[in-house]
Amino acid sequence: MSERKPLIAGNWKMNLDHQQAIALVQKLSWALKDVSHDFDKVEVSVFPPYTDLRSVQTLIEADKLPLVLGAQDLSKFDSGAYTGEVSGAFLKKLAVKYVIVGHSERRQHHNETDEDIQAKVAACFKHNLVPVICVGETLEELEEQGAAAVPIRQLTAALAGHKEVNEFVVAYEPVWAIGTGKVATSEQAAEVAKKLRQSISEQVSIEVSSATRILYGGSVKSSNVAGFLASEEVDGVLVGGASLDIDEFTGICRFQKHVTL
Ligand code: PGA
Repeated sequence: MSERKPLIAGNWKMNLDHQQAIALVQKLSWALKDVSHDFDKVEVSVFPPYTDLRSVQTLIEADKLPLVLGAQDLSKFDSGAYTGEVSGAFLKKLAVKYVIVGHSERRQHHNETDEDIQAKVAACFKHNLVPVICVGETLEELEEQGAAAVPIRQLTAALAGHKEVNEFVVAYEPVWAIGTGKVATSEQAAEVAKKLRQSISEQVSIEVSSATRILYGGSVKSSNVAGFLASEEVDGVLVGGASLDIDEFTGICRFQKHVTL
């Protein structure tokens, strides 16, 4: 394992209303407490839908839960006539730390471009939010260009032109592995993470590249998480479906119990 603190991030997507969210966070915190999870060693974050954020924030604060709050998206704008959009300033007020930016579902279903994602990363930096920048190739791109080309191009675009680069996280999520039950091999994930880190060191700096956490995402489960995190290159996971299941997610958070180095 590297010096970087592993991050286990649960992306709930469009699941759970605010009441269900409260129930899940309560149960998750009990489950992690039962197994004496050490949050100083492995950070755990949840990414509920916007409508749940206030309820989850209140619960985290009231019960002093060591969970970190994330959001699934943000607007590239600060405020104004942008119906349906949510500003980074509003998220910051809700004690949100992380924001997923450029998830493949947003690129695919909401036509988000590299320029939009670059602007959203800028909005995160402006409002002191940490973007979790998602990158990944489709099956077609994998066959034509290999695994690393598209993720590197997407990350380079997302980081281009910022006056100052604050903390960010990268999530390598092959599109063909999301919600499909197909996973990259741990060697593939480690190889792409290594190349992404190399590209950060060329584009930003060696210091930033060695401090930046690079996650793997796509059909992560408690039964396969240890393989990904056995590599020095992979610093955590972005979990979709399995983050809605307490036993599965708790098992993923406890990946160190399965890693034998
Ligand atoms: P999955 O989703 O774990 O359900 O494949 C991952 C993601 O989209 O972040």
